[in-house]
This record gives sequence, C-alpha cells and structure tokens, in this order.
Amino acid sequence: MTQERISSVLSEERRFPPSKAFSASAHVGSERERKALVGQADADVVAFWEERAKELAWFSPWKKPLVWKYPHAKWFVGGTTNLAMNCLDRHLGSARRNKAAIIWESEAGEERTYTYYQLHREVCKAANMLLSLGVSTGDVVAIYMGMVPEATIAMLACARIGATHNVVFGGFSSEALRERINDSKAKVLITQDGVMRRGEVVELKLAADAALQKCKTIKHAIVLRHTGDNVPMKSRRDIWWHERMADASAEHEPLALDAEHPLFILYTSGSTGKPKGILHTTGGYMTQVAYTTKVVFDLRDDDVYFCTADIGWITGHSYVVYGPLLNGATIMMYEGAPNWPNPDRFWDIIERHGVTIFYTAPTAIRSFMKWGDHWPEQHDLSSLRLLGTVGEPINPEAWMWYHNTIGGGRCPIVDTWWQTETGAIMVSPLPGATTTTPGTATKPLPGIKVDVVHKDGTSCKANEGGLLVVQHPWPSMLRTVFGDDERYRKTYWSDYPKSRQHPGWYFTGDGARKDKSGNIWIIGRVDDVVNVSGHRLGTAEIESALVSHPAVAEAAVVARPDAIKGNALVAFVTIKALPKNTKRSVLAEQLRVHVAKEIGPIARPDDIRFAEALPKTRSGKIMRRLLREIVTGAATTGDTTTLEDAAVLERLR
Ligand code: WTA
Repeated sequence: MTQERISSVLSEERRFPPSKAFSASAHVGSERERKALVGQADADVVAFWEERAKELAWFSPWKKPLVWKYPHAKWFVGGTTNLAMNCLDRHLGSARRNKAAIIWESEAGEERTYTYYQLHREVCKAANMLLSLGVSTGDVVAIYMGMVPEATIAMLACARIGATHNVVFGGFSSEALRERINDSKAKVLITQDGVMRRGEVVELKLAADAALQKCKTIKHAIVLRHTGDNVPMKSRRDIWWHERMADASAEHEPLALDAEHPLFILYTSGSTGKPKGILHTTGGYMTQVAYTTKVVFDLRDDDVYFCTADIGWITGHSYVVYGPLLNGATIMMYEGAPNWPNPDRFWDIIERHGVTIFYTAPTAIRSFMKWGDHWPEQHDLSSLRLLGTVGEPINPEAWMWYHNTIGGGRCPIVDTWWQTETGAIMVSPLPGATTTTPGTATKPLPGIKVDVVHKDGTSCKANEGGLLVVQHPWPSMLRTVFGDDERYRKTYWSDYPKSRQHPGWYFTGDGARKDKSGNIWIIGRVDDVVNVSGHRLGTAEIESALVSHPAVAEAAVVARPDAIKGNALVAFVTIKALPKNTKRSVLAEQLRVHVAKEIGPIARPDDIRFAEALPKTRSGKIMRRLLREIVTGAATTGDTTTLEDAAVLERLR
C-alpha cells in the first residue's frame, strides 16, 4: 500500500463508455437500467436474489431466502435443487440440446466438441461410475487433472450425486496434493496419466502416486488415459476411467439436494502456513454465478466464450465450468500453454473458433505485450466483442494495450474483482452500461454491498485509502473454512464484528480506495498473501516450505513489484550452516527447487537473500513490513520501536 501506487492510479482519467451498438443488444443496456437494478436490490436485497434464483430450476422451493446467524449465512433454506441438472438437463428441452457446450483443443492440436446432449450423457455415466465405486452423497472426491473435458465431467458428476469436489491445481506438487486430500478426507481421487504443457508431459499420475502413499482416506484412484504414456496402476486401488465408463449407464436422475449441500472445497492461501479449505454450497453459489456470468459477460446464445483460467482455481470453477453452462453457453477450453508452439496460440484459437468473449489475467496480458504486437496482428480477432480481466489490479498501460491491440478499440473490458471466498464476481462493470476507466473494477454489482472503510469502521472519504469490506451476506459467499470454523471467524469476521449498527462485515484482506464517482480501485492485499502471476500465494506457506529444508533456520518471504508477474517473491533466509562444499548460489538454487517440489513451481522464490538475522519484534515476530521496504527500496516508515535489534535492519540494507 505505498503512496506512489495510490497517486499513480489517481491520475488516470480516461473514460470509455460502451458503444451504442454494444448497449443496444446487452442484457443491461444503459446506466439507467443498471441503476434501476441497484435500486431494486437496495430496496430489498434478499428479494433481489430470490428473483435471480427463480430463473433456475428447483425441485422444491425454499422456505426462507436467507437465514443469517452471524457469521454464518444460509441461502434459500429448505429449497432443493441440483447444480448439474441446472447446467445440463435444463437445456435439453430447448434449442440448446444440440449446441456445443464445450469446444476443446489439446495443446498438440486435437479438437473435440461436446454438445449439451453429449455432455449430459458423459456426466450421467461418470455419476454412475462414482456410485459404482461406493461414492455417496456427502463424500469428498479429489480431482487432480489438467484442462481436459473430463475434468469438467468429473466436477459435474460430483455435483450430480452430491459428492463434494476438491479440485487441486495440476501444477501443485504431490506434497500439496497430499495435504489437500488429507485435510478434506477425500475418499476417491480422479486424476490422469499426464497433461501436456509446452510440449512436455506433466506426470500427474506419478505425482498422485507419491501423494497417495500417505493418504489413508482414499479408497480408489480413477485414472483417465490422456497422453497414453505408461503409468503404474496399483491393483484394486487404481481404476481406468475408460474401462469403468464403458460399463456405466448413461441414465442418471439428478439428486434433489439441499440448497446448503456442500458443493465443493477449494484450497486457497491464507496468512498462516496451512491452506484454507474454502467451502461453497449449492443454491446460493449457483444463483450468483449464473447471474453474474449472464450480466457481466453479457452472454448470448451465439457467443463462444473463452476463459483462460485453470479449473484448479476459483475462476475455473465459476467461469470456465458452472457459470457458462448454467447460461447454456459454448465454452472454449484449451489444454496447454499460451506460448505453445508460438506466442500467438490464444489469438490463433480465437480466430479459428470465432471466440467472442475472452477472459484472462493481467499478468497474462503483460506477457502478451512483452512477446510483441506482431503475434496478435497476424490474426483476425474481429469475432471478439467483450474482454475481461481478473486476479489482480490491471495497470492502465496493460488495459490500453488489451483494449486497442486485442479488442480493436471496440470491445468493452470488464475488470472483475472477486475472490475464492466470494465464489462469484462482486465488483465489475456491466459492459452495456458502465463507463470504464483503466485500472478500476468500477462498482459493486446489483445485490452486493461493499465499502472502503477505516480500521474503526467509518467510511473512507473519496480517494482515501482503506480496507475493502462486504456489508451484507451474498448468495455465493463461502460458508466456512472446512474443518476449521474458528479460522473462518477469525480471518474474515473478527475485524468488523456484528454490532448494534450492522450485521457484521466480511473483511476481504484487500486495501482499496473509492474515487469521487464511487469507482473502487484495489490497491492490493494487506495481509501476508501475495498475488504472483494472478495466483494467490501465502507467504507463510512458502516460508514453512523453506524451513523444512535442513540448511534453513528461518525464512521470511515478501513481495517486490514485477513488471510481468505483478509481484515477484523475495525470500530472506538465515541458514544453520552452509552445507559442506556448497556455495551460497548453489544453495539458493537448491532452495528454489525445494519450494517448487514442496508447493509447486508457481511458488518458487525469484530471489533468495541470505541474512545473518531477520528483523523481529520483541515478542519474536518477523517484521515483514520492514523487509518489504527493503526490497522495494522504500525508506523505512512507520513504527520501528518494537524492533528488537535495530542493527539487523542496517545490516540487511
Ligand atoms: C485480487 C481470484 C484487483 C485481490 C478470483 C483478491 C483483484 C484476490 C481483482 C483474490 C481485480 C482479484 N482487481 N485485484 N479485478 N480480482 N484480485 O482468491 O487481491 O485467487 O483479494 O480469486 O485477487 O484471489 P483469488
């Protein structure tokens, strides 16, 4: 939260109203319409969401739309529904029956299309496969796969039978997978032999095998044959996807599940070493994801929608899989890297498949800029009509490039702010209504109440930096941290507890400011969470990986700004003793590899700095703030009186 960053965005005043042509056919086509929706929600926010929920199919109606017992919300209480049924069965009686649900392309260039009819059949078969392995409603199924259609099929099959899925990003290491399986007590793992990334096989099954050596709860691993490489299969435990699917019936009645039935657990980084299992449930999640996909991406039946997120992240859950399918959209899904075989792969996909909506992360946009304009220029991108970003603040330079070079100056950009915890988009332009400005996610969506407040809860004045809070429960909010409700309360609800003035506010962990027009500018995380290349990493997690190396005594990880990745990771490390015949530079490289092995390559520190000691408070807490100031070259500010040994700081400089 440095002053420079605040003032640099302050100077941004370019305004981009939607074109008449875009607004004319948009779901929300003017600022007047947007305000009417906001007004409707302000008058009765719960009734507003009820209206949205009624657009979906329910087996039985809810008795109460919202029960709020601080800090726990239940939405659509007593109602029963099924998310997979809403994503698939609901479309089979309409013209969408034979429409492409998923157009998939492998990294090597193989193409496969699933219509809604075909996808429904596959999901029913997969549901029957899971049932035949003894998976029942309430069991947890871990999914460790790449971007293949079967990953989507697996998720929907779980939703259909009421098994709670726990998708673990395929780029995570076996250690990280094991921790997430054990914490969630998963009964079955669905994985694949391997997935392609830049022409090489990422060996998921081998990593899964290593993880499963210490996973007591797993009864079976279902293995999809994808690359065709030979992988070891453990008899009785391991089952080939294609063999079981061949025997499975394509008929399956979706289960009527309670609106609050646990839909999925998704682990995300927090400010302690242990990742948090964010728990989402069925009815509210479905409602907000369906609505936001419709109005933010302005989906129409002839769109081809391409979100580049991996299903291992929340964006993949909500806006690759569930949101588009709930809206009967056509999803473009791609297995591999954006720069394989060349840095124009995405532009090539857009051209060949006629993609109309493209949703990606600022870090990706900055890479595209670096790779050069000649890559997109070789392609006809005129099919595009809307662009989106998510994951971190977008710098105005990247926004302008995206707007001009990819959007041809004609596509609105929706800068969408939300989190794993919020489940769905919270702050975003509505593309047919909102006038956008590079760098701001603009305003909260209708039905969402957020504000920027001081520590004491008073509202910040225009352009005053403060903390971003959500002031009313929303349908797709997390319900708890799986297995650790105390952590849920402490992390999100202890800063602004329920009081006579308000029902309790959710603290997002983000710093922000609101400008004169009410647009929200995200400044960044204020906790020990860092955004690297759009991925959320807990510095504590990386620190604990570092200290698990025998040479390391202590470690502190902080971020420094990076032109492409948003943030780069700098690890300050004190060592017990330098291992014999090992140079510091060699040890540094070993430590980077060690972190990649413990967590995954995305967590690998960019710099390792060896220190004699770390700055600490008298009570022994590492003062990361001071380290942050060192790596960003900023002057030491704020209170250093709690510093135990001031000389440490001098030596580090
Ligand atoms: C950041 C990703 C600025 C923010 C959906 C948030 C953003 C964290 C934006 C959540 C945005 C996400 N502008 N910052 N449009 N979107 N963030 O859980 O710090 O992976 O708290 O969810 O990303 O990251 P997560």
